[in-house]
Amino acid sequence: MRYRSEDIENLLNQLRIEEVVGDVIELKKSGANYKGLCPFHPDTTPSFSVSPTKNICKCFVCGAGGNAIKFYSMYYKISYEEAIEELAKKYNISIKEYKRNFAKENENEKYYKIMEDAHRYYQDNIFENNGRIALEYLNKRGVNPKIIRENQLGYALNEWSSLYDYLVVKGHKKEDIIELGLAKNGEKGVYDTFRNRIIFPIYSIGGKVIAFGGRTLENNKEVPKYINSPDTPIFKKGKNLYGIKDKGNILKKKNYSLLMEGYMDVLSAHCYGFDVALASLGTAFTYEQGELLKKYTNNIIMSLDMDNAGQMATERTALILKNLGFNIRVLKLENAKDPDEFLKNFGKEAFLKAVKNSLEIFDFLYEMYSKEYDLSNIMSKEKFIDRFKEFFKNVESTLERSLYLDKLSKYTGIEKKLLQETLVDNNIYQKKEERKEFFLEKEKEKTSSVSILEEMTVELIFSQIDFYKYFSDKNIESSFVKKIFYFFEEVNENKNINFLKEFKEFIERENFTEEEKNKLFIMQYRALDYTDNKKKQELLKEIFKSWFIKEIKDINMQMKNLKFSLEVKKIEICLYSDISFEELLEKYKNFRGILSEYNIL
Ligand code: UTP
Ligand code: MN
Repeated sequence: MRYRSEDIENLLNQLRIEEVVGDVIELKKSGANYKGLCPFHPDTTPSFSVSPTKNICKCFVCGAGGNAIKFYSMYYKISYEEAIEELAKKYNISIKEYKRNFAKENENEKYYKIMEDAHRYYQDNIFENNGRIALEYLNKRGVNPKIIRENQLGYALNEWSSLYDYLVVKGHKKEDIIELGLAKNGEKGVYDTFRNRIIFPIYSIGGKVIAFGGRTLENNKEVPKYINSPDTPIFKKGKNLYGIKDKGNILKKKNYSLLMEGYMDVLSAHCYGFDVALASLGTAFTYEQGELLKKYTNNIIMSLDMDNAGQMATERTALILKNLGFNIRVLKLENAKDPDEFLKNFGKEAFLKAVKNSLEIFDFLYEMYSKEYDLSNIMSKEKFIDRFKEFFKNVESTLERSLYLDKLSKYTGIEKKLLQETLVDNNIYQKKEERKEFFLEKEKEKTSSVSILEEMTVELIFSQIDFYKYFSDKNIESSFVKKIFYFFEEVNENKNINFLKEFKEFIERENFTEEEKNKLFIMQYRALDYTDNKKKQELLKEIFKSWFIKEIKDINMQMKNLKFSLEVKKIEICLYSDISFEELLEKYKNFRGILSEYNIL
């Protein structure tokens, strides 16, 4: 145990059980006690009782409950120790920690120590002579030294292995440094992952540095703009938020959060006094990040990028947030692509005005969906209404659903009863838990199926490099495959180079993990097997087709114009019959033609 029993006792004495419980479920006073709906079983009569005098809580139906720590750990499904740590932080009560002797604990300690040293090193660099370029860059973007210090930004020098060398001198082990993704093993030796990059530290809830994001200072499209720490023993993607460090109390007090897309957006927001700005880290917003936010507030103002991708992400994220019961508003920023740009061009007052004019999520969706359909056409009007099904699946409260139905009825002139039938009666509200499963499953599925197609494409191109031309315009999601595509691009431009030699050098200089290197090796090895030309052509056709179908699906998700859908559908049908590769290319050209006709390209 990391804490001594008398210290835990002391923490419990200082916590007010009615506050700890009351922060997550609604309580009503009932005599000396409080009552509320039990969060641990489907409850309709308030069965959950909280006793301030006994300092415990208990459900009289399912029996769940206990002291504040037990309650908190059950509610958030975290360990007793994590609950102690978080409660102490959340309610500003200090509690002494004792070093545990468990091997596992020590193991992670060493990782935290390395991250701390690395962070200190990056932070020091930024104010050194050879870090001047970083300071100037940030300055140019309106980030002053005060903000740099407050956000504990750093700079990774434009050197081969300065961080690694530094850490080794400090006594850290090579394997541990590599395990944390701070350095890579190349043939010419170990080199730093982050080079010539502004470093954004990422913190655990407990305030420890567990990962970094790095923005390049290079003006070269082939260098990824951001790289992020990989999953490590102390960091798992999609579980943390950028900008949340030390903000727990502020978020609770102000009782809202601004959700943005990028590190720079959050920084800018901080510069302009919006200290409640957060962002997900290099990945799409996850259900788990939603749960994390929920600990601090119920109210979110979304301010993602204003481009198409940002608007689609707004919809996706909003469904997750709605499922978690948030009140959601969406910002519209005119004449700027993101909050960073908006704040710099138009200032704080304009941003506040945008907050004031923000749309409630339902109105935002209404606006978004209306643009997708021709509402004078009955068929598409029906589809338009169907479009709200997902949203309604995530609205838990009957009252809220009814209010939304009223609104929709008012907006469309369709009788509420009819809407109710489609969106509520025949569109059963699923339990939170089920929806959660659904979102988590979707997150998993998306990454795996997309990366399988992407990796198959890489393998195919390995077998014949000039196939690259068929895929060079694809939107690659996996950062691993992105890097390989940059390489293909390079090779494609210089026809005379020795592929194998270049490839070896490429693997060395890029930031591949051991696992990725293995994957690359296997893909390349398997590509050697593609000797049968006919089979190779067949594979090319299939993979090209899969991309094609995926693109159609993606576009159908954002375009709900009936005429457009019909035209695309016509093409899609052909894909399921046996057509030659040449015909396929022809169809693809048609498809792109339609896209540009509708101004999508
Ligand atoms: P943006 O490209 O909008 O980044 O990507 P930004 O923060 O606004 O950066 P600036 O203003 O161009 O400097 C949004 C977020 O997506 C992740 C990062 O977390 C980034 O902040 N991202 C983006 C990556 O992880 N890798 C990339 O190559 C690009
Ligand atoms: Mn930006």
